[in-house]
Amino acid sequence: LRPKDLKGLRVLMTAGPTVEAIDPVRYISNHSSGKMGYAIARAAEYRGAEVCLVTGPVNLPLPHGVEGIAVQSAKEMLVAMTDRMDSFDIIIKVAAVADFCVRNTSDHKIKKNESTPVIELAHNPDILASLGQRKRQQFLVGFAAETKDLARYAKDKMARKNLDMIVGNLVAGTESAFGSDQNKVTFFYPDGNEDALEAMPKDKVADQLLDAILLRRASHV
Ligand code: PMT
Repeated sequence: LRPKDLKGLRVLMTAGPTVEAIDPVRYISNHSSGKMGYAIARAAEYRGAEVCLVTGPVNLPLPHGVEGIAVQSAKEMLVAMTDRMDSFDIIIKVAAVADFCVRNTSDHKIKKNESTPVIELAHNPDILASLGQRKRQQFLVGFAAETKDLARYAKDKMARKNLDMIVGNLVAGTESAFGSDQNKVTFFYPDGNEDALEAMPKDKVADQLLDAILLRRASHV
């Protein structure tokens, strides 16, 4: 049994995918199930934190005691996070945000007997990067989902987005973190330290991550 070692701390999180509308019935998204983020929210609440979870659409029940804010698109997630970030101590950005949204969204269902539609994409805002720019005392944690060169890309994201820690995981092949009950992660820190964990259930990853945050935060604030 872990102590209530997060008591008094406020944790703001994201989980799941974002969905970007093509028309009222179709969208662009990704394979995030929400399991990793929900496991962290559940563990943080269990350990005494006040947890707010900004979540894209997933098929998971909201963990007991966690405040849920449902969003669809990356732009909605950006507003939900920036509106709230100032009053939180720890921010953990697990959501798989769609990097692109549809520029030419149709207000009506695109009919299949019309000519083949061309979907134009536009870049979505980088939510984590703007949280990194605006953060003050908050301990800011990002995730990096990569299909190769995990360490290089994760460290680059940590520096560019002004993070206090990044959790790298692979999302290719049979060991992909997407949808799985297990995850194999590496923690990277701005001082160059890193910690590669064995593959383990996502609820165990969640506790390891919260342990690491508490330890690092002690020397951070
Ligand atoms: O949901 P599961 O099925 O359990 O899968 C878990 C997971 C694989 C989704 C999770 O462990 C994970 O890796 N989440 C991050 C996914 C992701 O979007 O990675 P990225 O490398 O593209 O983004 C890096 C970071 O920037 C992430 O913290 C992301 O939330 C953030 N980001 C990315 C793009 C964007 N426009 N805005 C962002 O805030």
